Amino acid sequence: AYTAEPFVPQRGGLAALRKAAAECHGCPLHRDATQTVFGTGDTDARVLIVGEQPGDQEDRQGKPFVGPAGRLLDRALAEAGIDPGQTYVTNAVKHFKFTIPHSRLRSSGGTPIGPGKRRIHKSPSLREMTACGPWLAAELAVVDPELIVVLGATAGKALLGSSFRVTQQRGTLLEEEIHGRRTRLVATIHPSAALRADDREAVYQGLVSDLKVAARALD
Ligand code: URA
Ligand code: SF4
Repeated sequence: AYTAEPFVPQRGGLAALRKAAAECHGCPLHRDATQTVFGTGDTDARVLIVGEQPGDQEDRQGKPFVGPAGRLLDRALAEAGIDPGQTYVTNAVKHFKFTIPHSRLRSSGGTPIGPGKRRIHKSPSLREMTACGPWLAAELAVVDPELIVVLGATAGKALLGSSFRVTQQRGTLLEEEIHGRRTRLVATIHPSAALRADDREAVYQGLVSDLKVAARALD
């Protein structure tokens, strides 16, 4: 089975983990992506935030949540009263998974337009989430947060198993056994859902109200 396990160092803090993760070949996703996007933030962070996987911008810059979804997340965190300085931000899967649209023929004359440069996000599979799990487990062990904020279905399934449903579990303070440790967590939607929705403002307000539950749990 695919697994990051042999690449995870047994000693050292976040710096050692980040360095080793850059060389991870635990699953095939490292082949097409630009680089490993490891978590960022402080070892002493009180909150650990888990997204799905890096997007196009994150893949280029090597940092999680620096694209449009990240900007929305920062705004929502601030509005909920969570200081970004007390968060450690990471993803369930550390490499960008994408497809490139096939080259199409221009309708007039059949001139190939050529392979698109646009890379379209593809959801990671359960195998890839499981393969990448040892990195998330190592981040949890080192940061030892007071609370985990779970962003969306992929992160939820990666942490809590395939029966996780955002719609049912969002916005309440949960306590679960995660990678062998009893941890408090609050789940919410993925911020990119608020970028795509028809009723963006309502979806965004739902995100903020879930994050307020997390903020209150930190008081
Ligand atoms: N979406 C995610 O889930 N993670 C990122 O880092 C960026 C977008
Ligand atoms: Fe390793 Fe995770 Fe990247 Fe797969 S996605 S190669 S397990 S870091």
